Amino acid sequence: MEILDGRQISLDIKEEIKKEVAGYIDKGVRAPHLVAILVGNDPASQTYVNSKDKSCKEVGITSSLYKYSKDITEKELLEVIDFINNDDEIDGLIVQLPLPKHISEEKIIQRINPAKDVDGFHPMNIGKMVLGLPTYISATPFGIIQLLERYNIDTQGKNCVVIGRSNIVGTPISILLSRKAKHGNATVTLCHSRTKDLKNICKNADIIIAAIGKPKFLTADMVKKGAVVIDVGIHRVKSDKTKSGFKLIGDVDFDEVSKKCSFITPVPRGVGPMTIVSLMQNTLKAYKKEVK
Ligand code: GUN
Repeated sequence: MEILDGRQISLDIKEEIKKEVAGYIDKGVRAPHLVAILVGNDPASQTYVNSKDKSCKEVGITSSLYKYSKDITEKELLEVIDFINNDDEIDGLIVQLPLPKHISEEKIIQRINPAKDVDGFHPMNIGKMVLGLPTYISATPFGIIQLLERYNIDTQGKNCVVIGRSNIVGTPISILLSRKAKHGNATVTLCHSRTKDLKNICKNADIIIAAIGKPKFLTADMVKKGAVVIDVGIHRVKSDKTKSGFKLIGDVDFDEVSKKCSFITPVPRGVGPMTIVSLMQNTLKAYKKEVK
């Protein structure tokens, strides 16, 4: 069994981004600029946004964090987005999800200029992704594809099972893996809460993407010997073995599943850092105006 070391790959990619950004700055042009909007004080969202901010700074991307109270109105938030859309010195804009219930995530996402939508959540960018046109691929699916690519894991004709159909991960990764592309051409089964006989479907899989949001959901009896397992989950659970009293675990029962598979991502240090670095790559793409 080999660990898919998302942290190491993300460090390699960060070095590549850093060099490219330094090249622009040496020529006297401004650095790429990403704005993240955070509404309310959800601790997980704060952690994600802080990691994104830190990573941007490490590679020379200017990062601004716009924080608003949970009581901001939808209208006010839409006005902030309009303001950022019209600022030529801002390349990328992300609005951290989830938003408070009184704000429509759909309306907010649709207001972002698609050319600045480095999360790849705007319907126009999702449509382009489905058609295989140049666009921003959302960060987690993009990170997973890059991890497979950098470890030379062949997906051609493979049976691939995706568990979870979220707009952010399950649905886009199922489309990307089935596309006619070097790291696509897989036969994909997208499973969800209504799927019958999930265990047998998983047992036939060469590649499993677990993105269900339930700790240790994928157990060893669901996995074929030699399968590739990608764990998208991240859950903070109590532990008496760590100083903090907590540890992070994924959607996969790592200790048991890892004994059976050929490749597996750990949690932490697997998909998480790949997601962040993919956002940096999308920001660089926005800066270079590669997505119109
Ligand atoms: N919430 C959970 N994941 C994400 C993400 O990738 N982007 C944004 N904007 N919000 C999220």
